[in-house]
Amino acid sequence: MTTYLLQALGCLACTGGLGINEEAMRFHWRVFLACAWLLLLLVLIDRHVSPRSANAESEAKTPGNQSSVADWGVVVKRRSEMFSSGCKNKEHQGDTQVSLSKLVLDNIVVSDQHHILFCETPEASDTYWKKLLIVASGAFSSVKDIPENLVHDHKKNGLPRLSSLAPLEIMHRLNTYFKFIIVRDPFERLISTFEDKFLFNKPSEPWYKHTISHAIIHKYRTGFPFLDDTGLVFDEFVRYLGDVEQRSHMDWQFGEHIIHWATYVELCAPCDVGYDVIGHHETLERDATHILSRAGIGHLVSYPFVPAGIMRYNKTKVERYFSGVSKRDIRRLYERYQEDFHLFGYPTPDFLLN
Ligand SMILES: *[C@@H]1O[C@H](CO)[C@@H](O)[C@H](O)[C@H]1NC(C)=O
Ligand SMILES: *[C@@H]1O[C@H](CO)[C@@H](O)[C@H](O)[C@H]1NC(C)=O
Repeated sequence: MTTYLLQALGCLACTGGLGINEEAMRFHWRVFLACAWLLLLLVLIDRHVSPRSANAESEAKTPGNQSSVADWGVVVKRRSEMFSSGCKNKEHQGDTQVSLSKLVLDNIVVSDQHHILFCETPEASDTYWKKLLIVASGAFSSVKDIPENLVHDHKKNGLPRLSSLAPLEIMHRLNTYFKFIIVRDPFERLISTFEDKFLFNKPSEPWYKHTISHAIIHKYRTGFPFLDDTGLVFDEFVRYLGDVEQRSHMDWQFGEHIIHWATYVELCAPCDVGYDVIGHHETLERDATHILSRAGIGHLVSYPFVPAGIMRYNKTKVERYFSGVSKRDIRRLYERYQEDFHLFGYPTPDFLLN
């Protein structure tokens, strides 16, 4: 195709008689134009091919085989670099002298046996990861054998919370242990929370349906809020999450349950803690193996088979959920979760904001 273009362009230069000088000139012109075209083409191809977002990353790297652990190391490294530069902009990266909030210390669990710190992020298979760490400790031979009520009992499950330790012990672990976190697209995470806690609420967790839904509806639903028994709708949930002025009072009332929608920055203080590996829920089938191997427990436990792409970001679903939410509220919501998007490499959801 290029040669075709060149000949066409060359002909533009070939008017008039053809003396020796003109012949030479024409030749130079052709070479010059050829180079120019080639350059332009290369720039265009590069723009289309190079992956720029977390989505591109997960699509470009569909699961393969053996060489995958090493290949995936490159992806994880790129994520870490992006994360570090995001933290540098905030000017407090890697400074573990800063005091972490009680919320963060409560959220990080410790495996002293294997020198691992894991920050729990609800709605990104955190319970399963805790089960794996319990099995790795040798207390149970498989995930199935662990009684459900033990998984979250940090006084008994062998995975104390960082908050249960003394300041010097905390510092020592932060500075020497392997630290990891699993994140997912912030808006998709909120949809998952909404479905789990409010839409398909489990009878064992009645407070979401009653206390919390009730308080949010009371605040944001106009008219006669409790005229019918319509439960909390997504649009009201979003209003609460993005309401800078009213939210803190409500959060205080909701207590520890807010961990299901608090930002990753609030829950895990990523820049202060400086996690060694950031796993993405969307590519769990690749990340899980990588994390277990980096944590040094790959020979003790393995993540169960995850069908490739099953966790992938579902834009249709996100669009559907947000279709009933006003632009103003979506923008407020984005403002709150913006840092989570940027630090972990999730593309800004422009299709919702504009
Ligand atoms: C992965 O391994 C399977 C069987 O071991 C093989 O059939 C398949 O072609 C491999 N795929 C890639 C992408 O290497
Ligand atoms: C995405 O979500 C929509 C709506 O919830 C659903 O119908 C569809 O099956 C999902 N797509 C994938 C690939 O999971």
